[in-house]
Amino acid sequence: MDKLIIEGGNPLHGEIRVSGAKNAALPILLACILPEGPVNLSRVPRLRDIHTTLKLLDILGCETSFEGNEVKSTVCNIQTEAPYDLVKTMRASVLCLGPLLALKGEAKVALPGGCAIGARPVDLHLTAFEKMGATFELDSGYIYGHCKKLKGANIHFDFPTVGGTENVLMAASIAEGETIIENAAREPEVVDLAEFLIACGARITGHGTSIIRVEGVSSLKGCDYTVMPDRIEAGTYMVAAALTDGELEILDCPFQELDAVVYKLREMGVWINEDNDRVIVRRQGELTGVDITTQPFPGFPTDMQAQLMTLMCLANGAGTIEEKIFENRFMHVQELVRMGANIKLKGRTAMIRGVDKLTGAPVMASDLRASASLVVAALAAEGETEVQRIYHLDRGYEQLEKKFSAVGAKIRREKE
Ligand code: UD1
Repeated sequence: MDKLIIEGGNPLHGEIRVSGAKNAALPILLACILPEGPVNLSRVPRLRDIHTTLKLLDILGCETSFEGNEVKSTVCNIQTEAPYDLVKTMRASVLCLGPLLALKGEAKVALPGGCAIGARPVDLHLTAFEKMGATFELDSGYIYGHCKKLKGANIHFDFPTVGGTENVLMAASIAEGETIIENAAREPEVVDLAEFLIACGARITGHGTSIIRVEGVSSLKGCDYTVMPDRIEAGTYMVAAALTDGELEILDCPFQELDAVVYKLREMGVWINEDNDRVIVRRQGELTGVDITTQPFPGFPTDMQAQLMTLMCLANGAGTIEEKIFENRFMHVQELVRMGANIKLKGRTAMIRGVDKLTGAPVMASDLRASASLVVAALAAEGETEVQRIYHLDRGYEQLEKKFSAVGAKIRREKE
């Protein structure tokens, strides 16, 4: 297992480029099961979760190649079983359920277990497919889904689930008739998936709003498509620039998709300027604490909560973060406290009181975004921090230590 050793206190300066969005690339890759012709995808980040998805595609009967950031995929002979070994390492594997049901009328997909940040059930996905005519049995840890031909339906999600919306969107593209998804997730990654499906010939309107309409077509064709840049990675760089009192020019930054984050960062005293294709970020005087509540898009993203908390650790005064999406997403709190932060937890709310400095310490990464918050904390801390169990980080950030080194961080990877 690898760990990162970070010598803090070096302001970051220079250009840093954002990679393709993991959370857009994953559903788009699984949607490659659907088209009859070959798909060429660009800006696919080289991450552990992407390799896991390619393994799953291989098992499901897609032939893929991955060179640089390009994935080529061709459907050969579709199989319908997603084994537990893969699903347990990456919950997003459950996104093959919709395409398989729509294409083959059956699917056997391991039920994802809980994860560090909460129980994360898939009941909303299953209820939606039931409305479209599928039936399910749960046996020995697997979901067995069956249907004759998936039919369009009116679906109203109780909660705007990102994965649920994506799963239904893929299935509805080749289902019989029209599907209307109400209270759909509006996340940019859902929009990117919809655009990909449209490029393959799907008939989708309303993506990016809470009502999406899909007119099923008999088949999809292959296409060339470029995955959107990662808004959470870009947001993490904004926090790193402010935390280290440096200045970063963020290239390929999906600025429009970061509204809520930019708004809160500016409220804290961070200077952010969009200039053509680059976004420049630096601190403007003292930082102040703010109150944040995580919400579905366009609200403040839960995936940026941990990084903003780290920034608030070094702000003047107090701030709060209320986590409304996941029930257990504060695993980074005790690790930040080990670095000298003053944070108190009450239920789903964290109260952060700014301290003068953070100090380096051995800390443990617990999930993807928690890991990122510890890395940026370490960049600003006095002394050396050892971030252990960084395999979480490798699931979602492409070459993070290389990118940070190139802008002045003292950071290296070692075997634990
Ligand atoms: C996706 C993102 C993740 C992000 C999250 C919220 C991917 C691969 N992951 O996760 O990074 O943090 O959106 O923006 O894109 N829920 C149910 N039943 C369901 C589905 C969801 O109760 O059937 C609950 C979940 O437990 C959670 C909440 O709804 O509390 C949000 O989940 P959802 O929007 O589905 O997130 P994911 O798609 O899992």
